[in-house]
Amino acid sequence: MAIEYQEKERLFTLHTANSTYQMKVDSYGYLLHLYYGSRVKGSMEYLLTYADRGFSGNPYEVRDDRKYSLDALPQEFPCQGTGDYRSPAFVVRNGNGSYSTKLLYDSCRITEGKYSLPGLPAVYDTEEGETAEGGLRTPASDGIQTLEIVLRDEVNGLKATLLYGVLPGLDIITRAVKVENEGTETVNLLKVQSACLDFLYGDYDLIQFYGRHAMERNFQRTPVAHGAQMIGSRRGTSSHQYSPFVILAEQSATEDQGGCYGLSFVYSGAFKAEVEKDQYNQVRISMGLQDELFDYPLKPGDSFYGPEVALSYSKEGLGKLSRNYHKTFRYHLCRGRYKTAPRPVLINNWEATYFDFTGEQIYNIAKQASELGVEMLVLDDGWFGVRNSDYSGLGDWFVNEKKLGGSLSDLTERIRGLGLKFGIWVEPEMVSEDSDLYREHPEWAFVVPGRKPVRGRSQLVLDFSRREVVDHIYRQISKVLKEASVEYVKWDMNRSIADVYCATAGREDQGAVMYRYILGLYEFLERLHQEHPDLLIEGCSGGGGRFDAGMLYYTPQIWCSDNTDAIDRIRIQYGTSFGFPVSAVGSHVSAVPNHQNGRITPIETRGLVAMAGNFGYELDLNKITEEEKVCVREQIREFRRLWNVIHNGDYYRLTSPFGDSEAAAWMFVAEDGSEALLQAVTLEAHGNPLTTYIRLKGLEPEAFYVDESTGRRYNGAGLMSAGVPLPQLGGEYRPWQLHLKKEE
Ligand code: GLA
Repeated sequence: MAIEYQEKERLFTLHTANSTYQMKVDSYGYLLHLYYGSRVKGSMEYLLTYADRGFSGNPYEVRDDRKYSLDALPQEFPCQGTGDYRSPAFVVRNGNGSYSTKLLYDSCRITEGKYSLPGLPAVYDTEEGETAEGGLRTPASDGIQTLEIVLRDEVNGLKATLLYGVLPGLDIITRAVKVENEGTETVNLLKVQSACLDFLYGDYDLIQFYGRHAMERNFQRTPVAHGAQMIGSRRGTSSHQYSPFVILAEQSATEDQGGCYGLSFVYSGAFKAEVEKDQYNQVRISMGLQDELFDYPLKPGDSFYGPEVALSYSKEGLGKLSRNYHKTFRYHLCRGRYKTAPRPVLINNWEATYFDFTGEQIYNIAKQASELGVEMLVLDDGWFGVRNSDYSGLGDWFVNEKKLGGSLSDLTERIRGLGLKFGIWVEPEMVSEDSDLYREHPEWAFVVPGRKPVRGRSQLVLDFSRREVVDHIYRQISKVLKEASVEYVKWDMNRSIADVYCATAGREDQGAVMYRYILGLYEFLERLHQEHPDLLIEGCSGGGGRFDAGMLYYTPQIWCSDNTDAIDRIRIQYGTSFGFPVSAVGSHVSAVPNHQNGRITPIETRGLVAMAGNFGYELDLNKITEEEKVCVREQIREFRRLWNVIHNGDYYRLTSPFGDSEAAAWMFVAEDGSEALLQAVTLEAHGNPLTTYIRLKGLEPEAFYVDESTGRRYNGAGLMSAGVPLPQLGGEYRPWQLHLKKEE
């Protein structure tokens, strides 16, 4: 059983294949956290120690027992006001203005399957979202269970249900919280961290993925020291700057060994992750909604959901931790027809034309692309309203027939005539001041009364917390999708949110608007998913500004970065790989010199890097040389040939492109072990170069593997312990690939 409850000791034990999570209700009714780590048996309560510690308060009910303090005890859902002075997971403002809560154990329930959250994305257990093409069920789907633990505060009437989903075969435990107000007065929620982990001791590092537009998810590993380290986003999106995925790793943990814990927020809005080493050298890490700008009035009878956090523990280092998330998100979070199916190889016109195109030019790009084997054309920004630059047109989701030289259906029919599917770009959450929509409904944009708004890319944000706004935009966009039988949508979001103010909400509701905005976004996406079940949606926010597990529930792939340079992309995709599967990454071959950084790399390198994702092109293929055309044709064939091992295989990082490695290398091993693919790119070039050796991973030590292109035979153990020499490739930014088949 994944979940055990021992009633006498009030002990909860959650088991996955390789981890155990344990908590207990103590004699005073507090829910204490006992353990999370490698799989163990029996009660871990013996780990708790009690001492009379100065300035660590004692709850009233313990009477004279000065050794009992919540300031020192590990807890599941620590609240403000209990004498625990570490950063709490839950803070409220009561009807009388006070900030205290005391949540004590009430009851529990264990059910088969995994809970879901109304209006919010969550990992799921079942066949939901699976279709004939994507109907893969992993053996890891078995034995999934849910635990609900109900806590209550007698004074303010709050009921908090802690939700735990256990996915044993994937080593994943999810957490979320439902808060209900069963009292008589409104209670304002000020901070809700859906998951909080207390560790009694240990030297840990925090690994997090910071960045900026066009340079997302850089790797940073820093020791957890006394004091708090906080990362998060106040931007209304999960953001380019910090990823809502963090790792707490034992300081000795490496790619292949050592204990590490992942926390991935299944939410796309502002978030906060905190890690704190306290006075007793205990470590607390938590993740949840950003508490700045959050002040949610929970009226009597109302309920609120704190979004899900997917936790995972690996004692086999960071590589295994990543693979746990890859499988879980690929099979139990992404949905729709393309969930696990091959996605069409696409050509996107953005870097080929920007705003400056006609229907004829788009057709010509499609024509050349189809001759080379591309399967879908994506018409990017500029096809609607009056949109010839990024100063106007957002919000007017009707086709600019003048620019296209005819209707969109005419164009798409011609493109389909070439044998291509058709996809289109939208940015539903935005409005340009120079648009019909804004002229008609200026109050639909986020603007604080009496103030001039902050612009971003010269645009304003629509108030998606309002139903009528979401409905209006949905109707317009859905009409275009239907009329032109659109098969793919690139959903963009190109600024950080500011001036959060809902014109129809009262004063007391403004602190709920950011959260409700995200619910509005999810509602829109869910409707698209339900009403256009065959549609493939790619998420995007100026590239990877909203690359999070929440979006993956609606969009099985996300444009990873606006930076299409192969070398920068190696780093961006490396950082992304810690928490997200290759199948979530949108990745294209673009022109050189690269438009973002001016770098020149061979087309073979650009192809190899883009193949470690959802492959496509973003340039005018009419403008490349005949030799390059031959290469493009070959790349598409190659991608199809390797798709299975890349997308369904296990992913291994072999070198860090942030270190001083001469080459970046990664590899894939087919799920059944029958083949492996090593990909590498040289990062440096030197005179009289030394040989770089790359050690492989994930192979069977006893087996032999054959490189079919040379006929050379290698032993698995040999490849893993001694590696292979990287051939001298004659310079920097050169690609190399080794495709191995296991001998029967
Ligand atoms: C964002 C996207 C780009 C492109 C432009 C269009 O920056 O990330 O890929 O679609 O918008 O305006």
